[in-house]
Amino acid sequence: MIKKVAILANGGDVSGFNAVIRAIVKTAENNNIECYGFIDGYRGLLSNNYVQLTTEAESKASGILPKGGSIIGSSTNANVFNFPVEENGERVFKDMSDICIENIKNDGFDCVFTLGGDGTQKSARDLSLKGINVIGIPKTIDNDVACTEITFGYNTAVSVAADAIDRLHSTAETHHRILVLEVMGRYAGWIALESAIAGGADVALIPEIPYDINKAAQKIINRKNRGKNFSIVVVAEGATPIGGQMCIRGKRNNGSGVDNNRLGGIGEQVAKQLEELTGLDSRCTVLGYTQRGGSPSAFDRVLSTKYGAKAMELAMQEKFGVLTIIKNGKLDYVSLEEVVGNNKKVGAASGNTPESNLRKVTMDHDLVKTARSIGINLGD
Ligand code: F6P
Repeated sequence: MIKKVAILANGGDVSGFNAVIRAIVKTAENNNIECYGFIDGYRGLLSNNYVQLTTEAESKASGILPKGGSIIGSSTNANVFNFPVEENGERVFKDMSDICIENIKNDGFDCVFTLGGDGTQKSARDLSLKGINVIGIPKTIDNDVACTEITFGYNTAVSVAADAIDRLHSTAETHHRILVLEVMGRYAGWIALESAIAGGADVALIPEIPYDINKAAQKIINRKNRGKNFSIVVVAEGATPIGGQMCIRGKRNNGSGVDNNRLGGIGEQVAKQLEELTGLDSRCTVLGYTQRGGSPSAFDRVLSTKYGAKAMELAMQEKFGVLTIIKNGKLDYVSLEEVVGNNKKVGAASGNTPESNLRKVTMDHDLVKTARSIGINLGD
């Protein structure tokens, strides 16, 4: 019988973190289980910094369903198996996981819920191999966690992007311009593709389909020839021209993480080329962090609540070392071993390595077929 559990939220934030936390806390309370939250993800686990979470009015976890961010913080680039520490004035990377394991055992946590993406779940898998009971919940706006059809936070990001496209439409039409919207998603084109369909864009460029800018320009010229002097182009930050490179704006995580690339800049590049090729005035908008902030959509509130309640249910059944997923539209779970795929090596690089099992857009996906059917140009 489990009595005491802890939650940690890790990686880039999304709308829906708090809805998951709330669902875990409520389900725990209904079953007389104490619930705690580590502050700032794996960093809190390492420093043993946690707070109790209840639904009492004075608790941090009260009234949080519609709230953006994470009430217990989150940290990016906190791989406890390869953690940056100062030693003799030098920065070195060390395996600190034994401290985390001691903290969990000493304080008697029967299960740790890891809310996060690829890297977070890789570390969760590694902790489970060292004997810790973990249950993962798939989070990221990028929707690229393996084995699940959808991650929490993604739907809100798509809604924000679709709303932006609506707003760009009216100004594009008024000024006879091409308006390019650069959206997030890292190495996956889910946000770009789905928001392009939701917003009625004319072109969508995604990392999974290296693009020929001439094909996108031709689509816009065809529209112009039919009297439509404006076009909307959605570009995923990871989109790449055929034979070209991904646009890297700089380094993130002080250059110390596994995947340090800070993507960005492809939207400006595409806007400039399209202006030259079509003769239409062209502008770029980078949507950025608005995709991650603010209140979750109704869909994400429900998905997050389902994930949180399911995770707590699995903990009560003592089914550990798993990730809650949606499969064929239904709640389910899968082993973390399956989620990490070929990224098997314990402790080493975690998240977005060549061995990572990221879920990308496939050419037979309904979204690709639908986009093509209605004439959205995918740059090919
Ligand atoms: O993974 C979520 C995400 O928002 C990506 O879409 C984006 O490339 C990245 O995080 C940005 O990371 P950071 O918060 O380090 O700038």
